[in-house]
Amino acid sequence: MKKRVLSGIRATGRLHLGNYLGAIKGMIELQNNPDYETFYMVADAHAITTPFSVEELRQNRREIIIDYLAVGLDPEKSTLFIQSQVPPHFELSFYFSSVTTIARMMHLPTYKEKVKQYPKNNTMALLNYPILMAADILLYKANLVPVGIDQEPHLEVAREIARKMNQIYGTTFPEPQRFATKGEYIPSLTGEGKMSKSVEGSYINLTDSLDEIRKKIRSVPTASVVGKEMTPGLKTLFIFADLFIPNEVEKYKKSFTDGTLKFVELKDALAEAIYRELKPFQEKRKQIASDLAYVEKVIKNGAQKAKAVAQETLKEVKEKMGLS
Ligand code: TRP
Repeated sequence: MKKRVLSGIRATGRLHLGNYLGAIKGMIELQNNPDYETFYMVADAHAITTPFSVEELRQNRREIIIDYLAVGLDPEKSTLFIQSQVPPHFELSFYFSSVTTIARMMHLPTYKEKVKQYPKNNTMALLNYPILMAADILLYKANLVPVGIDQEPHLEVAREIARKMNQIYGTTFPEPQRFATKGEYIPSLTGEGKMSKSVEGSYINLTDSLDEIRKKIRSVPTASVVGKEMTPGLKTLFIFADLFIPNEVEKYKKSFTDGTLKFVELKDALAEAIYRELKPFQEKRKQIASDLAYVEKVIKNGAQKAKAVAQETLKEVKEKMGLS
């Protein structure tokens, strides 16, 4: 039997380079490996756990499906769907909440960060975020989850829930593992923390033009360097160099040690290499976005395929828990 893969991206905005390198590259790789059956969703219900705009959410759901198609996710190979169109996610997450303590959820770093960021939004939905994510994954009995390293605490919760459910009720959930890519941690362009949609000036959008990318990369703080220590901004540039111009890294490293490195040269070489990688995506995206009937069809078929699998798991769980 094929192993299953599930991943998702929160519908809070458009995709950026961090999503692409940390999650999407892994999603594509697993889709194209015949040993795996892949399910990729838009996590729209997760988007309502922090303050959001109804109109933007409505748009983002579809935009992310278009992004998925444009990066090369193929509805013939992968089930592409929108989370809230498959109600078993919510039902299973409620059953899972019965084996999860409030204390465990309150200690998660992601929860604490969000409460700090939105102190007035300390809701039950936010506390439940990791339980819903566990339901997303386990509903499909997924073994592998291509996501960035920041999601590891959530995967640990999913494994705990799988173990508990199996122990108490005799269900047959696998313990899902993270599938890591080379770009699993993409730093912020500010030189501080990770690239994130919620931090202005930290990210490059997949739809940015060459000019925009150049401007953003040029603004990475490199400042003057004392001695041989790299500043955080420069370290960031070298992480990008490893990913986008691997053959030139040695050359730039050497000129840094020699004290002859011109930051703007490295920056512009990076901007061009990043743009080169994004250009085919941007062209394909335009073409797909002009055929909304096709996009709607993909969404409809995806929900149907996902539901068929989801309902089977839900049936098993209800039977074993005495709920049917
Ligand atoms: N929490 C994930 C993120 O912020 C998004 C997500 C929701 C997800 N459900 C998932 C990722 C299930 C993998 C599997 O990136």
